[in-house]
Amino acid sequence: MPKWLDNAIFYEIYPQSFQDTNADGIGDFQGIIDRLDYIRGLGCNAIWINPCYDSPFTDAGYDVRDYYKAAPRYGTNADLKRLFDKVHSRGMHVILDLVPGHTSFDHPWFLKSMLPEKNEFTDRYIWSDNIWDGLDGVSGLSGSLRGISQREGCVGVNYYSTQLALNYGFEECDPNRPWQQPADSEAAAATREEMKKIMRFWLGLGCDGFRVDMAANLVKGDPGKKGNIRIWQNFRAFLDEEFPEAALISEWGEPSESLAGGFHMDFLLHFGSSHYLDLFRCKEPFFSRRGKGDVSQFVKRYKENMAATGGRGLMCIPSGNHDVPRMRWYIDEEEMKVAFAFLLSMPGAPFIYYGDEIAMRYLDGTPSVEGGYDRTGSRTPMQWDDTTNAGFSSAPPEMLYTQIDMSADRPTAAAAMADENSVYAEIKRLTQIRLAHEALQSNAAIEFLYAEPNAYPLVYKRSCAAETVIVALNPSGREVTVDIDAADGKAIYSYGKESSLRSGRLTLPAASAAFFAL
Ligand code: GLC
Ligand code: CA
Repeated sequence: MPKWLDNAIFYEIYPQSFQDTNADGIGDFQGIIDRLDYIRGLGCNAIWINPCYDSPFTDAGYDVRDYYKAAPRYGTNADLKRLFDKVHSRGMHVILDLVPGHTSFDHPWFLKSMLPEKNEFTDRYIWSDNIWDGLDGVSGLSGSLRGISQREGCVGVNYYSTQLALNYGFEECDPNRPWQQPADSEAAAATREEMKKIMRFWLGLGCDGFRVDMAANLVKGDPGKKGNIRIWQNFRAFLDEEFPEAALISEWGEPSESLAGGFHMDFLLHFGSSHYLDLFRCKEPFFSRRGKGDVSQFVKRYKENMAATGGRGLMCIPSGNHDVPRMRWYIDEEEMKVAFAFLLSMPGAPFIYYGDEIAMRYLDGTPSVEGGYDRTGSRTPMQWDDTTNAGFSSAPPEMLYTQIDMSADRPTAAAAMADENSVYAEIKRLTQIRLAHEALQSNAAIEFLYAEPNAYPLVYKRSCAAETVIVALNPSGREVTVDIDAADGKAIYSYGKESSLRSGRLTLPAASAAFFAL
């Protein structure tokens, strides 16, 4: 595992909406460069940038047209390299979003694949051999397109109809459908090798790894995920050989599978079996003063995943991302502070979604942009200050990438930074504590001490050779006392009224968090 992941704290940047520097209403690489000190000031030492490759943007860039070229609206490859260099000069790291599963409709590979004559790209995508075989029942596809070219057959798509599934072969081939090729077929191997070239290209230019989009879904006809695990083992072996410091983090959502595939870490997500949504994205979230939430299912799955992955909690728990409503939609700023005490004290690398640190709102009803639909409300321009367009862009408002939060009391980074009671200030305290204590970082062990059904608090012990820290979180609006198996500790962090840990008796006031070093 790359050493730098040990204490990595990531900040996710949706490049469209972060900072515009040339008044076209869309964020750009220079904007990210200009804000690196802000990100570092928050205590994040790594960034993940959503897809920034050439694309028709039918799905915000998750529809790549040229894997080797930065989207001109963000800048050039040289600008992106400059961004990598600026990140590194601050001792930070940067990962890109790799979208290996599908390309855009107008990718040159697909244009050639649509031709009736056999050519190098004929089997780069998944085509049936008969126009009436719509690839029904193939696991891993979201549908197919029929009648789009002179070529006989239908072609599989992964997500939207504009995202054509690349062919990495099938784990289980249907004998009655000879167009299903095995994962070790020549065409599938060619796709895989091309993806290595793409990784080599960007890693060679200076990026530090990848967040991998829809990673569980390359090999089709693979309900048990064996084929996908195998292909990622192959990619990981390639990286270990050529780029051992490159991080590989999956959008998979099932660590017992993804870590077996060689991913360094996997996200817990709104899909999958992790119960991630119970934390702060449901009707009665655990991190709420109402105190009606339940964290026990989450903890149960977490422990099962740890057991299945050699006792390692290499699961990234994001504050949010570009696909889900913002945390602030479900909980308020006080509740968010306790939620961040959790996020920044769990194993695996934490991920903070841009704007969550200032409690930006989910703007329900924002008109869809670039295939965002209801996700668009979480993708609105970052609010920096009280200048034009909240400091995001000097373009006329109607040119902004999406509608901006127009409310008079919209949060801004400038105000949050000036207020020691802000969510921003609390996150900053928490990142500093995490960076100073190895026991709170990615690789240190975790043991849950209290996580009962429909009960508060949540208590766990983080430990490494050098130290042990007890993390005690009481999001609920009432004081709680529990007995735990721990010696007396000295508080190294606390939020809310004072809590105590004496002779194994832990008392936590309403809406509080405390970390005790033993
Ligand atoms: C992932 C991305 C999402 C995208 C989809 C298709 O889930 O996070 O934004 O739409 O994959 O690539
Ligand atoms: Ca711009």
